[in-house]
Amino acid sequence: MKPLTLLALATALLVGCDSKTTQESAWVGEHVLTSPSNTLTLQFGVTPESGTPTYSLQFGDKAAILPSAMGFELRGDTRKKEFWTDDAEAGDANAVCPLNTGFVVKEVLTDTFDETWHPVWGEESAIRNHYNELLVCMEQEDTGYLMNIRFRLYDDGLGFRYEFPKQRGLAYFVIKEELTEFAMTGDHHALWIPGDYDTQEYDYVESRLSEIGSLMTKAITPNSSQTPFSMTGVQTSLQMKTDEGLYINLHEAALVDYPCMHLELNPETNTFVSHLTPDATGWKGYMQTPCHTPWRTIQVTDDARKQLASRLVLNLNEPCAYDDVSWIKPVKYVGVWWEMISGKGSWAYTEDYPTVKLGHTDYASATPSPKHCANTANVRRYIDFAAEHGFDQVLVEGWNEGWEDWAGNSKDYVFDFVTPYPDFDIEGLNAYAHKKGVRLMMHHETSSSVRNYERHMKEAYELMNRYGYTSVKSGYVGDIIPRGEYHYGQWMVNHYLYAVTEAAKHHICVNAHEAVRPTGLCRTYPNLIGNESARGTEYQSFGGSKPNLVTILPFTRLNGGPMDYTPGIFEMDLGPVTGGNNNSKVNSTLANQLALYVTLYSPLQMAADFPEHYEKRMDAFQFIKDVAVDWQRSEYLLAEPGDYLVIARQAKESGQWFVGGVTDEQKRTVEVPLSFLDEGRTYEATIYADAPDADYATNPQAYTITRKQVTAADTLTLDMARAGGFAISFK
Ligand code: NOJ
Ligand code: CA
Repeated sequence: MKPLTLLALATALLVGCDSKTTQESAWVGEHVLTSPSNTLTLQFGVTPESGTPTYSLQFGDKAAILPSAMGFELRGDTRKKEFWTDDAEAGDANAVCPLNTGFVVKEVLTDTFDETWHPVWGEESAIRNHYNELLVCMEQEDTGYLMNIRFRLYDDGLGFRYEFPKQRGLAYFVIKEELTEFAMTGDHHALWIPGDYDTQEYDYVESRLSEIGSLMTKAITPNSSQTPFSMTGVQTSLQMKTDEGLYINLHEAALVDYPCMHLELNPETNTFVSHLTPDATGWKGYMQTPCHTPWRTIQVTDDARKQLASRLVLNLNEPCAYDDVSWIKPVKYVGVWWEMISGKGSWAYTEDYPTVKLGHTDYASATPSPKHCANTANVRRYIDFAAEHGFDQVLVEGWNEGWEDWAGNSKDYVFDFVTPYPDFDIEGLNAYAHKKGVRLMMHHETSSSVRNYERHMKEAYELMNRYGYTSVKSGYVGDIIPRGEYHYGQWMVNHYLYAVTEAAKHHICVNAHEAVRPTGLCRTYPNLIGNESARGTEYQSFGGSKPNLVTILPFTRLNGGPMDYTPGIFEMDLGPVTGGNNNSKVNSTLANQLALYVTLYSPLQMAADFPEHYEKRMDAFQFIKDVAVDWQRSEYLLAEPGDYLVIARQAKESGQWFVGGVTDEQKRTVEVPLSFLDEGRTYEATIYADAPDADYATNPQAYTITRKQVTAADTLTLDMARAGGFAISFK
């Protein structure tokens, strides 16, 4: 870092560019930073009137973020008495003190950084991390408190975070609210879900910013734990498009020891302000200096494909924390899961409800339910299927005691995570699987009784080591215990990471459902191999998801890390599948289900349907068998958020190419150039597509499979049905 003198600061600060001002922004900060190829320009300054830290961002000659204020409100009793608000009593815990005004800039440091790093798994094998940096060191004049803001400007976006150096007088402090603004330049088109402290399992709404308020009530659909907080609050990662054709995405990176950030919209000014998830007391962040916030990220491009290719969120995370990563492996799996989610079978061992209602099931005397799916014979059937078709693992849910009264009871001690049901032979099944080259995947549903999980975690991981499990799917259904905590508060954010770092000590990979949405931490902790944290395939069984969902997730939820979406459903009408227990229909064609293995990137991919449904359509199932789960290169061929996506990926070891394409509720014909293939070579393309009469509502399972000789010079013309798509493998 190069320190700059205060004298130098009196003039404009030059970082890799000139100090020209722009016409479009009303306000110009005196500190200017440009991105490595001059695509983006950041301006920063403290306003002359109030000393408020303020930034703005330009894309070329277009404003992307108008002047936006920065700072915090702190709990007053952490501050010097003379700066509490007038009406606050000495020691009043509810006093509020501003940490957003009265700042002077003391020092400015600049830097530039360029490296290429290699993720353990990912959408490509090499990622370039190239940015210019500006570190602004400030002091609040009245209090003497020190607060720095570090900006990292990439060609595809900006990251910034607040840093609090170790200092006298501010050892501990409590954040009432973060006041970071993101001032939009207009009434942008947005793809949003309701702001909520407990869930992201919502369908997306496509609307103008000005329409969010009127559409909110309808957007808040039921969930087992939900705390929407405002009529104009939305979640990140938020994808927008301006009328000038800029794609703007707001999110955060490296969420550690801090509450998850939502965005509260002021519809009068099109300005978002950060809204942190509180804890049970209503306060938000508990800080001890030296410390810093997560990065606030603003990705800006003029092409939706560049947003998909952006690695800004991963790049802002720390390098891998583990020396040895040889035990971390991508996983393709099947599982005893859809049987229960669809409503055909159950997780619970017994239906002896009178005993269960008392909360104490006596398993020795209980009558086994014929619906219990995780029984030894059924699990063996899945192991056989996995072994025959080359899957790595078999997830088994409902293997352990406690499912009779696990949900909705606010019960503290639900599961012990180590005691199998009487009909699940844990030792024999693991031995059987290993003999066939397959592993079982562990399942830890915590029912959000989080202290109970932490109390049992060591023994639970030790049990996994004893039987040779290498990955766990965990889950946080229902309201958090301790009561009053939220899924996205600081306490839970710390818990999720604790579960991952403790798992690493046992060489276990974690796939947490209902956890906070990812912020790129998988770069640092690559055993965080997946998350749900959005509306996955399970909702196709809970009444269905909108067809556009899968065209939005790569721009929003997947921006922070992979999703365990669990695709691969081949029987779309759940009535006959569940013996009439469920009349939901999967809003997708079969070809669309295949495409998801390419378009929804994850190193952890499930083939979620029943073995017998795949056995009926082995020709289509071949694509799921063939498709890779770890990639050397990804090419984003066509993309428009909320409408369609076509992505090509090259497998890491074999070098084989795969393409996936999906559309929303509109049928479309797309031209797919094959220029990503090696020139001068001829490939056999196997194209799995919607049949001419396919349609998600009337004929979802109609597909065609055609084979063609192609070269890099060819362009394929492909039709997609409503909620349809295509998948292609090249040989
Ligand atoms: C919700 C998860 O998303 C789902 O996959 C799981 O089967 C249930 N919880 C039960 O743990
Ligand atoms: Ca879920």
